[in-house]
Amino acid sequence: MESLRGLPGVHVRGNSLYTLSSNPGVRVYGERLVSVNGKEYREWNPSRSKLSAYLKLDGKFFPFEENSKVLYLGASGGTTASHLADVCFKGSVVCIEFSPRMFRDLVSVCEGRKNMMPVLGDATRPEDYAFAAENADVVYQDVAQKGQAGIIADNVEKTGAKYGMIAIKSRSEDVTASPKTIFRESEEFLKNKGYRILDNKTLEPYEKDHSMIVFEV
Ligand SMILES: C[S@@+](CC[C@H](N)C(=O)[O-])C[C@H]1O[C@@H](n2cnc3c(N)ncnc32)[C@H](O)[C@@H]1O
Repeated sequence: MESLRGLPGVHVRGNSLYTLSSNPGVRVYGERLVSVNGKEYREWNPSRSKLSAYLKLDGKFFPFEENSKVLYLGASGGTTASHLADVCFKGSVVCIEFSPRMFRDLVSVCEGRKNMMPVLGDATRPEDYAFAAENADVVYQDVAQKGQAGIIADNVEKTGAKYGMIAIKSRSEDVTASPKTIFRESEEFLKNKGYRILDNKTLEPYEKDHSMIVFEV
């Protein structure tokens, strides 16, 4: 297994990306498990995870390290969050999810992973989970609801994070507007907050009408 372009914790073999599993023998979303030299790796499917899609599309900015503390907004059942927990195995991933149905699945994924913490909460109310999120290094967001850039900005400000990474779904902002316009407006909004934009990359063909914006605070 080789490292993907030297990015910490991301491995590549053939056409597939992998993370080293911190919960061997357990699949989170039916992903393929592969053993190499006695270590188990989980395939990271770009059709199921926008972060994997970004990396597959040659995305260069990956502000996660083995000891990073991540605040993850919109964790759903833990698909992408579990891969980040593999990458940040000496750090932590605090997972915010507001749907009770998805939260139940998330809790069972977190049970097998010491560094993943589920919080039933609303990403538009960072004060409610400040106890768990303070001192985060990175805020990652994938909530698919209106006002996406504003939500990550509020969370970055409350936690003091150094980096933000956000999957913008254009149709969640305005179904009639062109995705390009929404991506540009989201970038402008974050720039006006004083953040330095590192990347703004569309996720086609893996995700329609989505862009990944990475910024430094
Ligand atoms: C596209 S899914 C996330 C998929 C997930 N990030 C992954 O890659 O595994 C969006 C999730 O965000 C959640 N969500 C939407 N708005 C939210 C909010 N304000 N607070 C917390 N969760 C929210 C939804 O319930 C849904 O589970």
